[in-house]
This record gives sequence, structure tokens and C-alpha cells, in this order.
Amino acid sequence: MTAPKRLGVLTSGGDAPGMNAAVRAVARTALTYGIECIGIRRGWQGLINTDFVPLTRASVGHLLSRGGTILYTARSEEFMTEAGRAKAVTTCKMLGLDGIIAIGGDGTFRGALELSRLGVPVVGIPATIDNDVGCTNYTIGFDSACNTAIECIDKIRDTMQSHERCSVVEVMGRNAGFLALYVGTAVGATAVLVPEHIADFEKNVIERIRASRLAGYTHFMVVVAEGAGNAVDVGNKIHEALGITPTITVIGHIQRGGSPTGRDRETATRMGYTAVKAFAEGRSNCIIATQEGGIVEIPIEEAMKRTKHLQMDRYQIMEIMQFGTDHPAEL
Ligand code: F6P
Repeated sequence: MTAPKRLGVLTSGGDAPGMNAAVRAVARTALTYGIECIGIRRGWQGLINTDFVPLTRASVGHLLSRGGTILYTARSEEFMTEAGRAKAVTTCKMLGLDGIIAIGGDGTFRGALELSRLGVPVVGIPATIDNDVGCTNYTIGFDSACNTAIECIDKIRDTMQSHERCSVVEVMGRNAGFLALYVGTAVGATAVLVPEHIADFEKNVIERIRASRLAGYTHFMVVVAEGAGNAVDVGNKIHEALGITPTITVIGHIQRGGSPTGRDRETATRMGYTAVKAFAEGRSNCIIATQEGGIVEIPIEEAMKRTKHLQMDRYQIMEIMQFGTDHPAEL
């Protein structure tokens, strides 16, 4: 494709801290290349509804530290239909958009792929707190969400310690355990439940609490990924087995909010820049990804086929740090 004159940028799916930093980077890089930048509000639904706002250098100012997304976000049912996507293509024609930069997770990129098949050039920027996009090591928002959850759990631990209690904390992550494992390791959890590892509850949770008690501890922290079960059920099972009554905390949407960490601001800035650079140099239909610390472009068709697995060696490291793991669980 030839260098674009005007690009659209949107955020879609669950928001993630750092999305604003990515929008800022896209707009400022585009303007530097002499490309107009139009913000599409409310994700793919906004493209269907011609819901837009022109972006200027000034209008994307003071965004680096802001959580959420100034472009709003949505999960559009209509865009999943052929008729919806046809309307989106019409909007692109009407506004003279030469391409779309879509910031979001897997669902967002499935939409982008469909749009590219209808002739609209796209580039994707991965942003989700779940870090579950197969083609990239890292997604914008993961670090911020982990740090938020860690801060919450550290606070919960203070009171657990004073009252000598057990706590079960549920964290987000959809069907993936990246967030739970990272957080569990960082808070020194007694046990972590992730969807990728089918836990032997007796061995992986009950025995670990017992071993911890035998080692002299009187408070216990169990971290559960939402995809691995429900914190209330986990608490009930612990009660049945050990006779203690855990407190239950579902951290929930707190993890999606707040000011992004430096890592998320910096990664979002480099990814936003790289997305526009690809367009400016005539490339599109790719996902911007991190690989070994660098930023790369992966063709979207190929990117969507890639899968990423939870590193089970990290699960083992988490287990080894705890008491009663002289013989770590077989993985
Ligand atoms: O994908 C991000 C995420 O926060 C997941 O961790 C979670 O399962 C889901 O979105 C929650 O979505 P909703 O915004 O519909 O509550």
C-alpha cells in the first residue's frame, strides 16, 4: 500500500492501563509523518456508528499517566455480523480512512482480521491485563494490573497476619493464569491455582497450608485465577479440609484501573510508534509484538494462529519458594 493520508485509531475489548499512552503515541507519530489521525470512539461499534473525534498533538496531552481509555471501549456484537462489518467499511470510506490501528486483545484482533479481509488495512497493538495474546510476549496493561493486585494482596496480608487467618484472593485473567502466577510469586502465596495446571487440591493447596502451619506460620495466602475456579468454592473446600474459615476477596475491576506503570507507558509508546511507522512505510495487516525485548511486526494471519503457554517452570519456582515443597509437585 502507499503511505496513508489519514488513519483511524480505536481501543476495543476490556480496557487496560497504558491504552491512553498508546493512543497518544499513535497520534503524535502519525502527525509527525504528516498523517491525520482520527480517534474512533467505543471500539468497533464506533466504526459502525461513525463515532469519531479528530486527534491533535494537544488533545492527546496529559495522557501518559491516565488509566482507562479516552476513546472509550466496547465489545461489539454487531461487528461480529457481516452486516455490521459492512457498515464499518462504509465508515472508513466516508471518513477517508486509509487504515485502522486497533488497540486491544485477541477479540479485537479477530475483528481486525475480518476487516482486513474486506480490504481495510489494519495494524493491531496488544493491550490486555490478561497477557494472553499468543503472538506477543507482553501485552500493554499486564504490569500495571499485576502491581495493583500485588498492592492489594500486600494489604490483605497485613491484616491476615495480625488476625492469623487464611485468605483466598481471586484475580482476573479470563482463561489464562499469567496474572495469577506472576502475582502469586510476587506476594509469596502459600498456593496458586491457575487454569493451565490441573491442581490436586489436597496436594497443591491443603498440604501446602498444613506444611506452612507446621513450619510455624499462622497466616496463609491462596491466589486463584478466575479461570481456575471461584474463590468462594476454594474457601469452602479449605474450610472442610482444615476447619479454618478463609476470608474471600475478589479483586475484580480494580486491576483494570489506575495509572499505568513505567513499563506499560514505555511499551505502549514504542508499540504506538511502530504501528504508525509500519503504515507510513507501506506495511499493514500485522500485529505489533514484543519478542525478546524488541518490537516486531507479525503478519496478522500468522499472528492469530500463534499460541502462548504459561511457563510451567515459573509455577515450579513459585512452589519451591514455599514451605513443605522439598518434593515439588510434579508438573
Ligand atoms: O480481558 C480483560 C478482563 O478484565 C478479564 O480479565 C476478565 O475476565 C474480563 O475482562 C472481565 O470483563 P468485563 O469487563 O466484561 O467485566
